[in-house]
Amino acid sequence: MSDSREQAGNSTAVDGRKVNKRLDAAAYQKLYKASVSDNEGFWGEQADRIDWIKPFTTVKDVSFARKDLHIRWYEDGELNVCVNCVDRHLKTRSGQAAIIWEGDNPDQQRTISYSELYEEVCRLANAMEARGITKGDRVILYMPMVPQAAFAMLACARIGAVHSVVFGGFSANALADRIVDCQARMVITADGSHRGGKTIPLKPNVDEALKIAEQQPEGHQVRTVLVSKVSGDSVDWLDHDLWYDEFVPTHEAVHEAVPVNAEDPLFILYTSGSTGKPKGLQHSSGGYLVYTATTFSYTFNYQPGEVFWCAADVGWVTGHSYIVYGPLANGATTLMYEGVPTYPNLGRCGEVIDKHKVNIFYIAPTAIRTLMTDQKRAIGSSQRDSLRILGSVGEPINPGVWQWFHDEFGKGQCQVVDTWWQTETGGIMMTPLPYVVEPKPGAAMTPFFGIQPQLVDKRSDILEGKADGHLVILDSWPGQARTIWNNHERFIDTYFSTHDGMYFTGDGAKRDEDGHFWITGRVDDVLNVSGHRLGTAEVESAVVSHPKVAEAAVVGFPHELKGEAIYVYVIPNDGVVPDEQLTKELRDWVRKGLGPVASPDMIQWTHGLPKTRSGKIMRRILRKIAANEHETLGDTSTLADPQVVDELIDNRLNR
Ligand code: WT7
Repeated sequence: MSDSREQAGNSTAVDGRKVNKRLDAAAYQKLYKASVSDNEGFWGEQADRIDWIKPFTTVKDVSFARKDLHIRWYEDGELNVCVNCVDRHLKTRSGQAAIIWEGDNPDQQRTISYSELYEEVCRLANAMEARGITKGDRVILYMPMVPQAAFAMLACARIGAVHSVVFGGFSANALADRIVDCQARMVITADGSHRGGKTIPLKPNVDEALKIAEQQPEGHQVRTVLVSKVSGDSVDWLDHDLWYDEFVPTHEAVHEAVPVNAEDPLFILYTSGSTGKPKGLQHSSGGYLVYTATTFSYTFNYQPGEVFWCAADVGWVTGHSYIVYGPLANGATTLMYEGVPTYPNLGRCGEVIDKHKVNIFYIAPTAIRTLMTDQKRAIGSSQRDSLRILGSVGEPINPGVWQWFHDEFGKGQCQVVDTWWQTETGGIMMTPLPYVVEPKPGAAMTPFFGIQPQLVDKRSDILEGKADGHLVILDSWPGQARTIWNNHERFIDTYFSTHDGMYFTGDGAKRDEDGHFWITGRVDDVLNVSGHRLGTAEVESAVVSHPKVAEAAVVGFPHELKGEAIYVYVIPNDGVVPDEQLTKELRDWVRKGLGPVASPDMIQWTHGLPKTRSGKIMRRILRKIAANEHETLGDTSTLADPQVVDELIDNRLNR
């Protein structure tokens, strides 16, 4: 099978510049077909992208059958992920920038070469070992977007510890749940974080989270909290606390990496589902690295020396795969930005692109929509001529937004890739390959090599040709999550039970007459608010934990900037008369319980919720009312009390 690594060097003129397409349309078709028909052959070959300490002899051992569900790739191979992202580049690019860090404050920046990255990571790895952390231990990272976050991920990988990054926008409660669920032994954090000119406390949340965790039946195992000085805010100091900036530099800048098995977990990342508490998706070392390295290389057509900027947070899977592991496994220069895309104003993204000569820029549609609110500001202060490829991720991109991104932001000189994937998939699953697949605005288009997407109906029957249905994936890929930490049954139930023998994505999609895919959004009770994933059940349980609330139902509704926003219907307890003060109190309550990302946009008090006679809430109706589409409610005859609907419509907030 011949892929890009044999075809380097053919340069053609596209978008007014010379590019190395690597594949033409015919070669792409051929390679895709081969990647499916000889899936093991394809992934066996891609595995050569990384260095193995002990080579594997089997590529793939997978069953999607409920009764025998297992997913293993390269299972007898051994490697070290950190060595692949750092050490092996020292021979050829020790002086090249590995990470360019751009501060929230436009005057702050730092460039970390591969050799500096090696030293930083080795010192931290030694420091962690000195605190008793060894292979298999879990370490929670609750960090701002500073280089130490990447050092910490790589240092964990180096010693075989399993990291679990918790987004800094999550609350102490959410952090406590994760600390307890994965039984972490260490937390790496900072005093506080700079975002959009404000300081956000982190260390105080860790202190509170540990207090909360102590009170839970399982307790917690945290013995060390390593605190990086970022905001300079004064913080309380406890026995288990250590300053990163004092403790880490006392350790040696060399470290012998610990070999791990390909299937040993590299990280756990919590994400929301349609029921219950967030699930800790467990990702592998070998397969994950091969998958992120391969998808990074092809999707972004990365060429040596280019600067890649993924404007996500390392707290999300996008940051794991395309700020840290994918780029560094390719020896790329990855830009890490501390702040928000709109600070100090909407021109910031363009200015950062000019300042660091960014070639590839990867961002969420919600941010692009915000830039579009003041186009002059957003593009007036920069040239952006270094850009070659623009990527979109996290939610459907409206065709108009795609067009603006391409025509105005990218000046019509860039390839745009709309990449569909999930926390569970580890890396990009669908995308038009740049220079190869002609994109249609708003479509994720075509599967990545080796990926077999399919559409099915509710009875799991496969839909052929032009169709609209549930999006499933028929066979495994190396980057797939292996299980839910400590809960394999839930993994099977969530992803492999709705459609027998297939991985169910939770998304709906359409296939057009040309065979191209369009993601239509979640078909389960998962919300996508500004590209952040939240479960309605999680928000509901935060709402009903308020002492004045009897019952609540949460749905999403379309929002111009956020994509989707949060609408809460609440029944107060008997005797409680809701007023504006209580509404505000409830909003703050949810922010405190889950974090600012979950702050409800609309809170409607009501005497009742639309329920079937068996007591099931009819969310379909609530979604329609929240979307101000109550004219088309559909059948309400199965409701126990149809009058409830009239009250809800009369008092609706979104008109
Ligand atoms: C959900 C996964 C992809 C990493 C960041 C989000 C939605 C993601 C697209 C896209 C339409 C998209 C899906 C998916 N989504 N990318 N290009 N077009 N929808 O990861 O938090 O696990 O969320 O995001 O609904 O299921 P996540």
